[in-house]
Amino acid sequence: MTKVLVATDKPFAKAAVDGIRNIVEGAGFELALLEKYTDVNDLYKAVADVDALIVRSDKVTKEVIEAAKNLKIVVRAGAGYDNLDLEACTQRGIVAMNTPGQNSNAVAELAIGMMIYMARNCFNPGTGSELKGKKLGIHAYGNVGKLVAKIAKGFSMEVYAFDPFVTEQQMEKEGIHTCKTAEELYSTCNFVSLHIPATAETKNSINYELLSKMPKGGCLINTARKEVINEQDMLKLLEERQDMKYATDIAASNQEELNQKFGTRVFASPKKMGAETAEANLNAGLASANQIVSFIKDGVTKFKVNK
Ligand code: 3PG
Repeated sequence: MTKVLVATDKPFAKAAVDGIRNIVEGAGFELALLEKYTDVNDLYKAVADVDALIVRSDKVTKEVIEAAKNLKIVVRAGAGYDNLDLEACTQRGIVAMNTPGQNSNAVAELAIGMMIYMARNCFNPGTGSELKGKKLGIHAYGNVGKLVAKIAKGFSMEVYAFDPFVTEQQMEKEGIHTCKTAEELYSTCNFVSLHIPATAETKNSINYELLSKMPKGGCLINTARKEVINEQDMLKLLEERQDMKYATDIAASNQEELNQKFGTRVFASPKKMGAETAEANLNAGLASANQIVSFIKDGVTKFKVNK
């Protein structure tokens, strides 16, 4: 019998697990669960006899792939798949997929929430500022970026975006000012919301040169990945520019130092919570299960992200 494993260090909400079970068992497959594991050896053991795997930010390394002798498909229930070793999957003929768009609204709402939190001194006493009339830069106008832009317009923000993969016509049709370069975006906007994936090209790309272009009182919101930030440059910038702020959903490697030095000018979620809503869990979880059933039964490879 086809066996599907849901391996999530950060578990899905119960309703999502129930929904996944209905889909998987309804297809005549077996479901296994490994949640909140602390030892990677538990993951190696759990994948040993499975045909399909659903994960969140859990790392699917070469070692995991090697331990999963029967694996045919791995689905990252979410958008960013930098946690999957795509090369190892391809070498073994394993299909790797993500579930684009399924948790985007949750991440977008969090990005806006973080903007308000930073504009209001992390809800501490003192005079803050409003989002209304401020310029927001969307760095990558994809599923999440588009939703952040849409919500921000409801706050009467002026929205700009930089995305070399989206045409100027499309952005303008949606009421977004197009920036031709990242430099233009950062030098124009009071807030910048990051939505780029972590790839070889983007890692460390948010550096001193770019960040120092932000106007006085600039604030960077990161609900993307910590790897895209040059952390030493961020530290230097926050030291030099007393006006700048940084909020991240993924704590920096040097977060403790940032917190100690900069107080309410910085914020990091204790654990990445962008997709931590019941709705996002359900959307991404069910999509993953459906994608697995369609692949095993009918060979459907829509949303495949490896070669
Ligand atoms: C994503 O890439 O989909 C988000 O970062 C969510 O990650 P999570 O499933 O680990 O919360």
